[in-house]
Amino acid sequence: MKMPGSGDDSAMRRVSRIIKGMAATDGAGVELTRVIGQPALPMLDPFLLLDAFRSDNPEDYIAGFPAHPHRGFETVTYLLAGRMRHQDNAGHEGVIGPGGIQWMTAGNGIVHSEMPEQEDGMLEGFQLWVNLPADHKMDTAAYQEYPAESIPVEAREGGIEVRVITGVTSRGTKGPVVQPLTEPLYLDVRVPAGEEFTESLTATHNAFIYVIQGPVNSGNEAGEIVWLKRDDLAVLTQGDAISLQAGEKEAHFLVVAGKPLGEPVARAGPFVMNTRDEVQQAFEDYRLGKF
Ligand code: CO
Repeated sequence: MKMPGSGDDSAMRRVSRIIKGMAATDGAGVELTRVIGQPALPMLDPFLLLDAFRSDNPEDYIAGFPAHPHRGFETVTYLLAGRMRHQDNAGHEGVIGPGGIQWMTAGNGIVHSEMPEQEDGMLEGFQLWVNLPADHKMDTAAYQEYPAESIPVEAREGGIEVRVITGVTSRGTKGPVVQPLTEPLYLDVRVPAGEEFTESLTATHNAFIYVIQGPVNSGNEAGEIVWLKRDDLAVLTQGDAISLQAGEKEAHFLVVAGKPLGEPVARAGPFVMNTRDEVQQAFEDYRLGKF
């Protein structure tokens, strides 16, 4: 019989590091916060980048991300507020709205634009980059795109709500996005004041929490309680479960995990390959209009 927390086969994940994002500008002048992909956290295999954006000042976002290429990985856009229109050189076009997800596999190459579909009001969300293994970096580009109403919401006791974008929860709720190469888990969790959220995770996957609204507490490696605040990213130790408790108001956070690839990473701008030569080739192919 397995006693919670007492056996070698059960290990609660702890907070190993708390990362603060860094102000950055990207695209044609979009103000954002770079959380993964900056000196404090260059990557968390298989996650290459996490940008958070939240502004009700159109000057911060109106310029958007005009046509630009990607090769070798996936870009994952999740919106909490506002609308973004994307368009690419393969004829795909669509609008992501609040609660919507776009999981784009850039594969061997795509040129796309990502522009705000609004002139004012709040734009809030995330872009996560997920690496692809060497033997799939040159796959054909593909999309998995779902509006908010296609993303299942698991309602738990205590008023806890779990939106499952990809992966399967311990209670069997399955997200619509599928990616067997990195087996990602992407949850958007709301926990009412004082309630505790626990979930099992694949023990060997890398995982982080990103706090949208805090505070929320968990344990650190010294066995102490640590409070995570709004916009904190907590890198978690390995283990097969997480436990997070909300403070005096509702907590809202992302839980993201994935299978580390353990491969060499060569990256420059919008290209992420395994070697410098492959990155050079990407620049060359893009210049020659081969995307
Ligand atoms: Co892009």
